[in-house]
Amino acid sequence: MLAGDDEEGCGDGDDDDDDDSGARPRRADTGGEDLNDVDADADGNDSGTRGADALTDSGRAAGRGGSTFGARTNARAWRILQSLMMWRNKCLVAEKRVTRPKLTSINTLEDVAALLTRARNVIVLTGAGISVACGIPDFRSENGLYSMLGEYQLPSPQAMFDIAYFRTNPAPFFKFARELLPGSYTPSATHRFIKALQDRGKLLRNYTQNIDGLEREAGVLPEHLHQCHGSLDTARCLRCEHRVPVSDIEAEIRAQTIPMCKICNHPDGVVKPDIVFFGEPLGRRFMDLLTADRARCDAVLVMGSSLKVAPVNLIIGWMPRDVPLVLLNRETVGQPHAFDVELLGDCDAAVAALTRLLGWPADAG
Ligand code: OAD
Repeated sequence: MLAGDDEEGCGDGDDDDDDDSGARPRRADTGGEDLNDVDADADGNDSGTRGADALTDSGRAAGRGGSTFGARTNARAWRILQSLMMWRNKCLVAEKRVTRPKLTSINTLEDVAALLTRARNVIVLTGAGISVACGIPDFRSENGLYSMLGEYQLPSPQAMFDIAYFRTNPAPFFKFARELLPGSYTPSATHRFIKALQDRGKLLRNYTQNIDGLEREAGVLPEHLHQCHGSLDTARCLRCEHRVPVSDIEAEIRAQTIPMCKICNHPDGVVKPDIVFFGEPLGRRFMDLLTADRARCDAVLVMGSSLKVAPVNLIIGWMPRDVPLVLLNRETVGQPHAFDVELLGDCDAAVAALTRLLGWPADAG
């Protein structure tokens, strides 16, 4: 998870290797300050595409039977390196971060359709709102997940995704994870619209904060997708970092027993899905992609996000000022930056209207 403006917990990534303190994601509600806090994978790979062979970090070495000392040393070295990289990224972002003014040339739904007609490199930034129509609550709306956690008596709703809290009480997170196991939900019209952009050669990248995997299920290809906050594809032992496919622990998640590592068999060896929690380090793929995409994108669509969590919420302020910025959301978000067009309401309705204007088939995805 990322940091955002509402300063959610930013705990540490690990108990045994505390060197990466500068690289932690933080929540922010105001727009955030550091892009670096993004979620990512310790090895810099997209968590959505991190198959077993992408896991070249220390965790894998440990899992392969490397000595515990060696694995920890490697992990420490990697984290120091990652910290340095994140600080570098932070400086880059801070340099660019200015309040974005509205463009005068794009104002209406029709303007957005015209923009998408000519666009070739659209960045789509998505959040939990695009999956609400699928039956998955978002986080911060009145009836969102964070309003439903009373039974857990968490110190704060966000503690559910706080790595320090998870180490003391992983049960709330695993209850949440059970609801999102593959096959539970069907993509929405908005997911299919993103796929339709891809099919027409217009999708540069979908940066999603969602971990439900519905973009991929809709057919968005890994090369066009960055799952900023990780995914439920793989999981890793908090102790020895041995990594497994989530399918290996799916039965335990479904049964609501805490999955424990069968490699180290340590009492602290909870196997945690590779979701980026507050307080965990991010991978470099986010910044690498964003740096490259920034130079190419010709439109940015933000859909279904409160933009409360950094560094994803920093993207809009980091794009070139002349790139049109469009919001499809139930509420206005993103201050102090200005969107050029705000299509307020359900994003499925907005994409349906756009689809009509674009002359695409009703369910173009
Ligand atoms: P939020 O719950 O913060 O925001 C969802 C946004 O979507 C709100 O602005 C809603 O008004 C809007 N919304 C809800 N339903 C909608 C609909 N049908 N159509 C259009 N808009 C709708 O969710 P995120 O911004 O995704 O981190 O939250 C960011 C991160 O905070 C999440 O990734 C999560 C959380 O901590 C992790 O789990 C790692």
